[in-house]
Amino acid sequence: MGNLVESVGQETRQKGNFMEEQSQVELVREILSCYESKPSRLVPLLLDVQGSVGYLPEEGMRLIAHFLDMSVGQVYSVASFYSQFQLTPIGRHRITVCRGTACHIRGAPQILGEIEKGIGINEGETSSDLEYTLETVACMGCCALAPCIKVNDDVHGELTPRKVKEVLLNLDKEGADAQ
Ligand code: FES
Repeated sequence: MGNLVESVGQETRQKGNFMEEQSQVELVREILSCYESKPSRLVPLLLDVQGSVGYLPEEGMRLIAHFLDMSVGQVYSVASFYSQFQLTPIGRHRITVCRGTACHIRGAPQILGEIEKGIGINEGETSSDLEYTLETVACMGCCALAPCIKVNDDVHGELTPRKVKEVLLNLDKEGADAQ
């Protein structure tokens, strides 16, 4: 995908990532300073880092491993075992589509298709500009509102393809307002 990006854009993004990585490392170091160096602190540490950074960056896991005197492989295998840990960056708008039975029957596949078309990525992907992440879950626990999706922490229920377009449009507006 990277080779599709023009060189100027690529350079800018690399600079951005560099800054971003630096502040991630500082954040992780700050978090580590509040913990005891015991292997039993691994999961709380991973949760804390993910809560602050948004996901578990490779360099962060390396720092944690060093701090706890563990191998990077040990830290990685715990992080990849639990589904609540995110090993890749998440978009600013994290869109979760419910694909549970109630939602499926009431049109979740069409809703998912509409979103994929609208934001230009497929299920399981994050856009290269880190604006969107699109994922699915088995059930969101609000079946009475089926079909439903979640955008970050906001649930949108009783959706139709038209309503989904409105939700996406409002996300675009939010982005424009923030600029
Ligand atoms: S099936 Fe979608 S919320 Fe339960």
